[in-house]
Amino acid sequence: MPGHAQLSIDNLIREGEECKALGIGGLILFGIPDQKDEFASGAYAADGITQRAIRALKQEISGLLVITDVCNCEYTSHGHCGVVKNGDVDNDATLEWLAKTAVSHAAAGADIIAPSDMMDGRVGAIRKALDDAGHHNTPILSYAAKYASVFYGPFREAAESAPQFGDRRSYQMDPANGREAMREIALDLEEGADMIMVKPAMPYLDVIREARQRFDVPLGAYQVSGEFSMIMAAAKNGWLELDRTILESLTSIRRAGADFILTYFAKRAAQLF
Ligand code: PBG
Ligand code: ZN
Repeated sequence: MPGHAQLSIDNLIREGEECKALGIGGLILFGIPDQKDEFASGAYAADGITQRAIRALKQEISGLLVITDVCNCEYTSHGHCGVVKNGDVDNDATLEWLAKTAVSHAAAGADIIAPSDMMDGRVGAIRKALDDAGHHNTPILSYAAKYASVFYGPFREAAESAPQFGDRRSYQMDPANGREAMREIALDLEEGADMIMVKPAMPYLDVIREARQRFDVPLGAYQVSGEFSMIMAAAKNGWLELDRTILESLTSIRRAGADFILTYFAKRAAQLF
């Protein structure tokens, strides 16, 4: 993805300082371990790459919110978001990994825990594990409505996390189903989510709007890697004006009802507004 790279921790600190100087409120971390294995060990290791990155950021920079993506696909050798048993992702067994990961992030100092795996019951399991470990004040931002989308393609390449077999349709949502998103959000809120997110953003503006009307909690939208890449490619070809396209795309997401937006354009957009 143009302008984006995997960062070492020292470069991450530099990036964080730039973001803060630009007035960006926070950032979200995705970890890529040296070694991936079938147990996603790197996801919940006390000295894993994400845990070390959180500690370094919190130590070096004040006033920058550190959100952590909680999922297993960047850490598993097979690239699935959970425990694979008999060729299938085992929902309930995965909850244990997610809960351990969330607690290790909170212990390292993460401000917000953002589970993106879409396993059933994960918000409840994470909330309980956080509370049991004394992290009552660490909020959960749930990727509550996450569709099984082709628009994640560039991210998976960047994070080396494409599934080695099958796909994610047994846990992510069917793009044709708008009402299921509302059920998923309601369940996550019952389980204790503090904030919710819809993902992708621009192809799902109707879902953002509907969620805004039904649920009175902070609502985010994730402008994903494929959305970013399409705009960058069109600009590179001279087909679209980059800055105006960035602003119009973000404005449309905001107009649909998102309170906050996760976007790979954050640094550039911060200089435009
Ligand atoms: C991990 C995760 C993914 C993205 C965010 N968290 C990939 C996936 O579900 O395959 C995608 C983000 C993007 O495309 O920008 N589960
Ligand atoms: Zn995943």
